[in-house]
Amino acid sequence: MGVMAQKWEGLADTPQMGWSTWNKFQGNISEDIIKGIADAMVESGLRDAGYVYINIDDCWHGKRDANGFIQTDPVRFPHGMKAVADYVHGKGLKLGIYSDAGTATCAGMPGSLGHEYQDAVQYARWGVDYLKYDWCNTTNVNPQGAYQLISDALRAAGRPILLSMCEWGSSKPWRWARDVGHSWRTTPDIWCDFDSLRVFPGYTQFGVMQCIALNDTLRQYAGRGHWNDPDMLEVGNGMTENEDRAHFTMWCMMASPLILGNDVRSMSEATRNIIMNREMIAVDQDALGIQGLHYCDRDGLQFWFKPLEGGDWAFTILNPTRQDITFELNWQDFNLTDREVSGLSTAFDTKVYQVYNLWTHKLEGKTSLKNKTDRKLTVKARDVISYRLKATEVSLIQNVQAYESMSLNGDWYYIVDVQEEGYYDYRMNPTRWGFFQNAKPHRPEDLIEYDFDKSPTMHIPSDWNTQDERLFFYEGTVWFKTSFKGAWGKGDYRTLLYFGAVNYDCHVYINGTHVGHHIGGFTPFNYDVSDLLKKGENTVIVKVDNKRHAEDVPTQIFDWWNYGGITRDVKLVKVPQTYIEDYALSLKGQGAGGKEQELSFTAQLNRQEAGHKVTVSIPELKLKQQLTTDADGKVRSTFNVQRSTLQLWSPDSPKRYRVDISVGGDLAASTITDSIGFRTIKTRGKQILLNGKPIFLKGICIHNEKPNGGGRANSVEDARTLLTWAKELGCNFVRLAHYPHHEEMVREAERMGILVWSEIPVYWTIAWNNPKTFDNAKAQLTDMIRRDHNRANVIIWSIANETPHSKERDAFLSRLAQYARTLDDTRLISMAMEVTGASNYVNRLNDNMNKYVDVVSFNQYIGWYRDVNDAPKMRWEIPYDKPVIISEFGGGARYGLHGDKNQRWTEEFQENLYIENLAMIDKIEGLAGTTPWILKDFRSPRRVLPGIQDYYNRKGLVSDKGEKKKAFYVLKQWYDSK
Ligand code: GCU
Repeated sequence: MGVMAQKWEGLADTPQMGWSTWNKFQGNISEDIIKGIADAMVESGLRDAGYVYINIDDCWHGKRDANGFIQTDPVRFPHGMKAVADYVHGKGLKLGIYSDAGTATCAGMPGSLGHEYQDAVQYARWGVDYLKYDWCNTTNVNPQGAYQLISDALRAAGRPILLSMCEWGSSKPWRWARDVGHSWRTTPDIWCDFDSLRVFPGYTQFGVMQCIALNDTLRQYAGRGHWNDPDMLEVGNGMTENEDRAHFTMWCMMASPLILGNDVRSMSEATRNIIMNREMIAVDQDALGIQGLHYCDRDGLQFWFKPLEGGDWAFTILNPTRQDITFELNWQDFNLTDREVSGLSTAFDTKVYQVYNLWTHKLEGKTSLKNKTDRKLTVKARDVISYRLKATEVSLIQNVQAYESMSLNGDWYYIVDVQEEGYYDYRMNPTRWGFFQNAKPHRPEDLIEYDFDKSPTMHIPSDWNTQDERLFFYEGTVWFKTSFKGAWGKGDYRTLLYFGAVNYDCHVYINGTHVGHHIGGFTPFNYDVSDLLKKGENTVIVKVDNKRHAEDVPTQIFDWWNYGGITRDVKLVKVPQTYIEDYALSLKGQGAGGKEQELSFTAQLNRQEAGHKVTVSIPELKLKQQLTTDADGKVRSTFNVQRSTLQLWSPDSPKRYRVDISVGGDLAASTITDSIGFRTIKTRGKQILLNGKPIFLKGICIHNEKPNGGGRANSVEDARTLLTWAKELGCNFVRLAHYPHHEEMVREAERMGILVWSEIPVYWTIAWNNPKTFDNAKAQLTDMIRRDHNRANVIIWSIANETPHSKERDAFLSRLAQYARTLDDTRLISMAMEVTGASNYVNRLNDNMNKYVDVVSFNQYIGWYRDVNDAPKMRWEIPYDKPVIISEFGGGARYGLHGDKNQRWTEEFQENLYIENLAMIDKIEGLAGTTPWILKDFRSPRRVLPGIQDYYNRKGLVSDKGEKKKAFYVLKQWYDSK
């Protein structure tokens, strides 16, 4: 039975970018032209701006050989297509080719009809990466069948090749080609004209405006991996500069493929500035992948909105007419919700955005909440004004501790809002009159049914479950309010509002204005609220909702308490106008035998601007460098240090160096300081090497709960108590399960010389097929890595725990693992897997994810979910030449309950379970470490047995009150002997 193949996935997560021969050269192409173009793509910076495909359109063909395999034209391409591909690849570019579903191509070359599989194989052999597949000469060919056929053929040929369908839109491919190709033409061919048709006998070419009009109606069909294609760009081919700018802008607004059509070997400054506008390209390539919305026409102008990542919007006013048009802009006229595709709202009545001009590259103030004209704009004839409206959420700041700040911890008023009365009206539409208004009655007859200032208070940070008895089991919405006076003036500084973590879904408001929405309970986030602060008193209101949902991360079930609330620190942070958003300093490697160690440094400013000075120094090593940012606001550099001088970080000697980093000329004012340790972590066969030497990881799992009595842990003291217990146990390693713990936990462990495994809550059965779930997991992974990537003690990023095997899960997790590596190549990747019983006494680790991790780890519960007497008989098959960690084993005991070793819940039972497990584990060859489950009893709603569990998982070696159970000493003895 034939199974319908799927197209190659992951090739067009954002619209493809590149260059094609057609618009400029038509059939007059050759090997030399392609090479010259490839050189120019690199030299001009186009490749680095994202234009990676070099597409050879029609007329490269020679004849088919005796076996039917297509050949390259021997005159135009004397060295053959493989040589061209090698050349292009050598330049860091990709090669595209062209064919046709009919008997002949549009220029009369051999078509692919009847040769689909052969052609696909040939392209794959040549090293082709992209196929544009045309639709000439297809009488009696069925489009759906023809494109499915070539898609299957490309899949079968084994090389990932992007399929750009060029069927001109006649059979409405947007309705059927989502899983067939990566983009489909929505229009006939474009020609180099702004607003007219060019009619030939039998076919018609479209101007820019005609392409836009057709493409505009199809936005609901486009998205990640499958784009509407209104044809290639004509920028630089003869239209005026403003027409070119409008053309390019609109292609970006419509998330269209950006395939250049001009001669990039010789282009004008104006053309270069248009096609190299990285901020505009970022609109096209935005990760949300939403085609812009043509919201309305007014006074002859078109108004377009495109939702972007991070709550931003691109907003373009297009003037298609031949006259300049002046327009009075009232933001309230554009209070819109994109119901058709994204569900997102501009919410100009409650949100303030910074208005950033994408063509002048200047900030033009902010949007206004007032219902009146805010600015007068003149849009030039056949031109655009295009803005990025920047939401207040900004990239997470690195090393927030280093900045001057004002703590907002303390007593906050709170309102428990079971039915979200303070957010939705009685038709379940978000209401303007929600609790975030913090309204007060002004006249005696005013009806206001809430009052923060008469409501109870709760200390923040904390979980509400342990702060208010009524909320112990509560899962729902609670509103919080605090106020503060006098942040920093605007002048030279900006103010970030920073949250260490809020569980799980929260909306933040300042003085009634919506500042942002954040999802995910364990990672920090911050907003730039500078423009929202008033001189006198300012109010912060936070709506927190910890309801569980199937598509969330974690999902509906998990074995820990779903503590709700503002669970970590809240503060206002004072940053300079230009500040260092992120930096990383790490030891690259110990050159074998070499005398020098190489440290690598990178930093990213909050402004993507060239020419800023960044200074980094490590006084104790007498190292100092001044660097200058590139156009992306980045610096990169390396330091060489004498091997004998550099003291490495390790559990025995947790040495950290003071590092000073500053931006701009005024060092004193802007210097931030960090303490950074240097170490390498690598693997060799089954060994984990710390600083080049094998290390056995003597670990323990920990949940982020207070040491005495439960509740979310959130202080240095909490961290110190838990980690001191781990030290007493003989540990050099902790697994911070199953979500990122509070930052002080990681920092305190670093000071104490304890290595860390850090994890995201991709736990049990996540909604693997839901792209939003993936994005959520990815965001939590990003923020976890972002927060702690300068901590030397973190050696493992874990991407999951006990996930059930399936194709979808493998796809989800392998993408996460690969992504994690792009963020950080100085650490190991792992995940807690499961073993399967190969036979009665043989456990086998057999997980497709083995290829993607550096360390294979698994949980096993012999003695608890399986008879302890099996332990001596067990054999383990771990067929991977990678280090192995047993990431969990253990069993429950109620502290103080004594009895026989076969009596469950007694300390003796747990003690025996540890004795048997450790004896068994000792026999596993090449084990690199273990982290038994778990240091301390922790709250879980799944653990209900009265008198024993009482909503605690009792697998702790220490009770919830800090009392050590007998098994504690068994493990300690074993670790002491290692
Ligand atoms: C798991 C899981 C833990 C859980 C433990 C247990 O398999 O990873 O989160 O608490 O086993 O059952 O106690």
